Amino acid sequence: MRILVTGGLGYIGSHTCIQMIEAGYHPIILDNLCNSKSSVLDRIKEVSGHRPLFIEGDVRDKRVLVDIFQQQNIDAVIHFAGLKAVGESVELPLRYYDNNVNGTLVLVSAMQEVGVKTLVFSSSATVYGDPASVPITEDFPTSATNPYGRSKLMVEECLTDFQKANPEWSITLLRYFNPVGSHPSGRLGEDPLGIPNNLMPFVSQVAIGRREFLSVFGDDYETKDGTGVRDYIHVLDLSDGHIAALKHLGKKSGLHTYNLGTGNGYSVLEMVNAFEQASGREVPYKIVERRSGDIAECWADPSKAEKDLDWKATRNLQSMTADSWRWQSNNPDGYPD
Ligand code: NAD
Ligand code: WQD
Repeated sequence: MRILVTGGLGYIGSHTCIQMIEAGYHPIILDNLCNSKSSVLDRIKEVSGHRPLFIEGDVRDKRVLVDIFQQQNIDAVIHFAGLKAVGESVELPLRYYDNNVNGTLVLVSAMQEVGVKTLVFSSSATVYGDPASVPITEDFPTSATNPYGRSKLMVEECLTDFQKANPEWSITLLRYFNPVGSHPSGRLGEDPLGIPNNLMPFVSQVAIGRREFLSVFGDDYETKDGTGVRDYIHVLDLSDGHIAALKHLGKKSGLHTYNLGTGNGYSVLEMVNAFEQASGREVPYKIVERRSGDIAECWADPSKAEKDLDWKATRNLQSMTADSWRWQSNNPDGYPD
């Protein structure tokens, strides 16, 4: 199958391209490089043996999309392209609504024009807001506390309405929990621009000496050790979840929603500890105030994906941290320009 992968040079997209190539799929990448580098393509080739066709362009550009669909004989789309920094979304909400919501609407309208009717969308556990209990199943109520989260929720709602009006389409909403880790080759990984927003890239930059210490955002939550608890999932497990979705649902019309998580919750301090063990480095930290908008705990009930997609996460905390460290220590400054 020939799959258009929007945002395919980003963190999750690049790992998914590798797993797709290994599974016999043919990814074609559209990315505007706003949060990635073209050298990622060389690494995909190096690790997988195949260099996917790359088109530098924007998902909001319908002309570019229609050209790709017409020239490349695309069967389905995995839509990763989006902006994801929660804090920035509060400062620049229009940028987020334009990129994430409008970008998806332009994509779907181009797909409709050419008759491509299978879409897998990168949603997020952020759509559960502050859940009333854990673990979280797909039928929990949704809400959002910031423009980024609202943009994901709006897209879910737009796609739900669209699928209802076009019942022959197959649309899958994959709600990711907290993706971490890297390809075990140490050649691909997460390469955030500037100061990392997320825990694990920050921890690895402290371990390598790029930052002095980690600020732990609060130790007075009602959790096992007072720090926030999340469902960290290895990025390759997440990637495999997309392939499972294409395999099982690609030809099955409907609106399908799945949690992609492990079902385990680890605290910030457990993550720090695991990273210290994997790296053999100390990760100094200081307890600071809670981060506004954070929740105490969040983890998935991933059983629906296991039942329907025959998918479950298999990589443990040790591989998540060891693979992150291999990437960070082999590429202390991330990808080359
Ligand atoms: P990323 O920033 O590494 O990758 C996104 C890619 O999309 C980048 O290469 C960027 O250049 C590209 N892009 C952005 N806007 C574009 C546009 N308008 N046109 C073309 N390309 C564009 O992010 P990621 O972590 O790989 O996340 C991928 C998707 O998964 C995003 O939609 C994100 O919201 C979602 N998601 C991520 C996480 C996470 O913690 N990483 C969790 C849940 C959901
Ligand atoms: C994890 C834990 C922090 C950084 C965010 C988005 C969510 C999704 C994933 C895209 C929390 C603590 C963090 C630090 C810390 N993204 N922490 N010091 O907040 O679960 O989710 O990324 O969809 O939408 O909101 O992930 O990695 O930022 O934080 O103590 O420097 O680590 O308080 O408990 P989060 P995270």
